[in-house]
Amino acid sequence: MYTPPNKTQSPYLPFGDRQDAPFYFTDILSVKQFQRKDLDYIFGVAHEMSEMVRRIGTFDLLKGKILANLFYEPSTRTMSSFTAAMERLGGSVIPINEVRYSSVSKGESLPDTVRTLECYADVIVLRHPEVGSVATAAKFTRKPIINAGDGIGEHPTQALLDLFTILEELGHVDGLTITMLGDLKYGRTVHSLSRLLSLFDVKLNYVSPKILPMPEEVVKEVAEKNIVQKQYNTLDPVLAETDVLYVTRVQKERFEDLDSYEKVRNEFIISPEVMKGAKEKMIVMHPLPRVGEITMEVDDDPRAAYFRQMEYGLYVRMALLAIVLGKA
Ligand code: CP
Repeated sequence: MYTPPNKTQSPYLPFGDRQDAPFYFTDILSVKQFQRKDLDYIFGVAHEMSEMVRRIGTFDLLKGKILANLFYEPSTRTMSSFTAAMERLGGSVIPINEVRYSSVSKGESLPDTVRTLECYADVIVLRHPEVGSVATAAKFTRKPIINAGDGIGEHPTQALLDLFTILEELGHVDGLTITMLGDLKYGRTVHSLSRLLSLFDVKLNYVSPKILPMPEEVVKEVAEKNIVQKQYNTLDPVLAETDVLYVTRVQKERFEDLDSYEKVRNEFIISPEVMKGAKEKMIVMHPLPRVGEITMEVDDDPRAAYFRQMEYGLYVRMALLAIVLGKA
C-alpha cells in the first residue's frame, strides 16, 4: 500500500534551508490552512519582494532552484507570474503549460506525472480541472505542491494576492464591505477569497444571477466565523456601501448547457455609468480574464485596480516560493 511522504522529515531535504520556518516544504492547497498571523508573515515577505523588484529587478535568493509549472487548464496570469516570480528570484522553470504535448497525452496518471517532476524540480505548481486533484497529487510527491486552481474548488494563491491588493490599495481589511459580483457558483477565486476574508471583520455581499449563487458549503463555513453575508441578484442595493467590488467572469467552460450561459453572461456589466454610483475610494478588482463584464472605458478610472492586482500577484508568488523553499 502507498504511504504518503512526510515532506518536512524527508531525508532528501536540501542542506542549508531554514527548516523550522513557517510553511517550509508545506503544500499550499487551500486558504483554510492560513491564520491571520500567517498572512502578516506572507504579506511582509511579499512587500519586501516588491521593494527588491523595484530596486534591483532580479536577485539570486532561489538561485539553482527549479519550479515545475504543470497546467492541465489554460492560464495566462498564474502560469506566467509563477514563471516570472521564480526567474526574478534567480531560479528556473520547467514549463508544462500544454499537457497534451507531455506524456499525459499517452495516458500517464497525475500521481506518476508529479512523481516524475519531483525528480527534476524543487517545487511544483499545479492547475487541474478536478476539485481535490491537487491535494491528491500532493500525497504522491515529497516536493511541495502549490494549488494553482482545482476546477471550481479553490485558487488559494489568487485569494492571497487579492487580499494583498486590498491591503496595499486601502491600507486595511477590517471594517470593509466587500461585494462579490458575477459567477459565484463556479468561480473558484471567490470561494477562496470569501473563506480568507472570514478571518477579518468584514461584511460580504454576494451579487449573482439566480442560477449562479455562492455555494452553500462556502456560505456555511463563512457563517461559522460570524461574518455578515447577504445575497442579491442586483447590484443597486449594495453599490453605494461597497468598499471593494470584486467582479468575476461567467465561466462558460463550466456550463453543460450553453443556452443557460447565454442567458446570464451579460447580466452584470460595470461601466462608467455604474461607477457613478460607487464610493470615491472604492476599488474594482477582477481575477481576470474579463470577457465584457467590465467595459474598457472603466480602465482609466483610478478605482480600477485589476491591472495593479496582477502585479501584486507577482510579489505574493515570489514570497510563497521563497517561503516554501526555506529562503524567506
Ligand atoms: N486569475 C487567473 O487565475 O488567471 P489565469 O487563468 O490567466 O491564470
